[in-house]
Amino acid sequence: MIRVSFRLTLLSLLLASKPTEAPSAASPQAQESGQVLFEQRCASCHAAQPGAEEEWGPNLYGVLDRPVGSAVDYRYGSYLQSENAAGALWTEESLGAWLADSKAVAKAAGRRTKMPEQDVSEAELLRLTAYLATLGDALVAAQ
Ligand code: HEC
Repeated sequence: MIRVSFRLTLLSLLLASKPTEAPSAASPQAQESGQVLFEQRCASCHAAQPGAEEEWGPNLYGVLDRPVGSAVDYRYGSYLQSENAAGALWTEESLGAWLADSKAVAKAAGRRTKMPEQDVSEAELLRLTAYLATLGDALVAAQ
């Protein structure tokens, strides 16, 4: 637990020290390598196109700034359900903590998640969010 909160603290420091420009302003190279990373590390469980069917994980089209746990017809675990009920939105910061260790984030709130820990590094995270930010903004409206 101490190790996990240390990692989360490091990650939030890193994210907080980043320039505050919008992720869509990230370089095309970062977006492109983020897409490759997404295909390697996430696409086995997640679709990312408007209207795509839910897979083992929810569709991630437009996930940045979207309400947590809001993919239509997806049956979420208790942590994402409770965040949805609390009105939380996915931000670069919450996405960062989630991707660093989803199980620890859920456990810290006394809840569970079905998403296995991905152990995404800080450098990979910046590439992934650069890519995810290019994917539209309205999953619900797209369906
Ligand atoms: C082994 C399958 C698997 C892999 C690989 C995986 N995920 Fe997930 N992911 C899930 C599942 C299952 C959920 C739903 C968890 C729940 O409901 O508790 C989820 C949920 C999420 C959510 C919450 C979405 C929402 O609608 O609130 C995000 C964001 C996410 N994953 C991002 C990623 C990213 C980015 C990657 C790649 C680095 C990734 N995931 C890799 C299975 C996976």
